[in-house]
Amino acid sequence: MMKLHPFFMVMIVLGIVTGMYSVYTIFPPSMPLLFVGSLIGLFVRINQVLLEKRKQTDAGAAVDFARLRAIDLKCYAGWIKENVRGHDEVVDRVVSRIQQGLAVAAPGQVPGAFMLSGPTGTGKTFLAEIVARALYKESELLLLRMNQYKSPQDVFTLIGPPPGYQGYEIGGALTRPVLENPYRVILLDEFEKAHIDVQHCLYNILDRGQCREKSSGRTVHFSACVFFATCNCGVDALRAIWKKTEDPALRNGRAREAMAREGFERPLLARFSDILVMDQLDPVEIAEVACLQIAKHWRQYGIEVAYTSPEVLIEAIRRNVEFQDYGVRQLANLIREITTPSIEEARRLGATRVRLSLDEKTGQVTVTR
Ligand SMILES: Nc1ncnc2c1ncn2[C@@H]1O[C@H](COP(=O)(O)OP(=O)(O)OP(=O)(O)O)[C@@H](O)[C@H]1O
Ligand SMILES: [Mg+2]
Repeated sequence: MMKLHPFFMVMIVLGIVTGMYSVYTIFPPSMPLLFVGSLIGLFVRINQVLLEKRKQTDAGAAVDFARLRAIDLKCYAGWIKENVRGHDEVVDRVVSRIQQGLAVAAPGQVPGAFMLSGPTGTGKTFLAEIVARALYKESELLLLRMNQYKSPQDVFTLIGPPPGYQGYEIGGALTRPVLENPYRVILLDEFEKAHIDVQHCLYNILDRGQCREKSSGRTVHFSACVFFATCNCGVDALRAIWKKTEDPALRNGRAREAMAREGFERPLLARFSDILVMDQLDPVEIAEVACLQIAKHWRQYGIEVAYTSPEVLIEAIRRNVEFQDYGVRQLANLIREITTPSIEEARRLGATRVRLSLDEKTGQVTVTR
């Protein structure tokens, strides 16, 4: 709508009032007619505003369900497993559940919600990142650190404060990105640290597949959003359940009970289709991760690693043992430490493709072309 300077507004109102008064002095019965006319004008304007608002809300609902049904995530299962090592069973479960969810995608329900539990540095966040890349190439993972939502007021941070409150024009940290692009993978990191009111708010969202952003009043639709909640608790119990129970449904039921004992509310746990454990990697898997990380690290410098000798990988695993409690978190640092001098050498030689082996005496990596 065109915006007028307040001075012109005042002049126009004065003009109308003077005009009305002149008509009234010439023809007094005109007053009720003018009154009814202005009431109709007001009613039409209110109707226009409401229609505009509804249009905005419907724009949020613009999830293309045909597009969702056409997605073939199963063909990415191999690629996901190549990147996230040592959790093939978890990857298969996540992929097939999302695929099922997409096949029956509909307003009011989310295509997938998973709780991932495991020790630190085992790939929980990484799995969500990789699934996001496979599922919606154009949108990045929406990562929300739940340790920043520890008080009841943080519900507003999530879904936007009511109009007039500080920061209401920014909207909610969860709702605004989804309003902008409804095709999202959402990671609720360290879920157990969120305040119970925040958990209730998320429960409602998972339950109804939508919510109202308080600040804008717009309805946010999560019908194309896949949720991952990660936590570090209940690992021992989950590990025991996974070892003992083969049947996935029974395993899920028992996992829910184990997580309820950790303090999560049962109705909330029931909103997650699967509760999965991502346990510590074994040495062979650590070697595979080391291989991936070496290749990634060298690629940053435009150099392709054609071969890595087993001794280099054994050295990486050996050094990682000391930091076992961090999962593979330290591995990237260790790799950087043992390979950086050789990267300098490779660059000096102008190599774009190298073979890596270990100098037993110095513990450093050496390169050959
Ligand atoms: N299973 C894995 N396969 C390949 N890379 C992995 C794996 N686990 C961890 N990594 C690497 O280690 C990094 C850290 O892992 P990630 O952040 O996923 O750990 P996390 O399980 O979420 O830990 P935390 O519980 O502390 O949040 C990842 O970015 C990735 O490069
Ligand atoms: Mg994490």
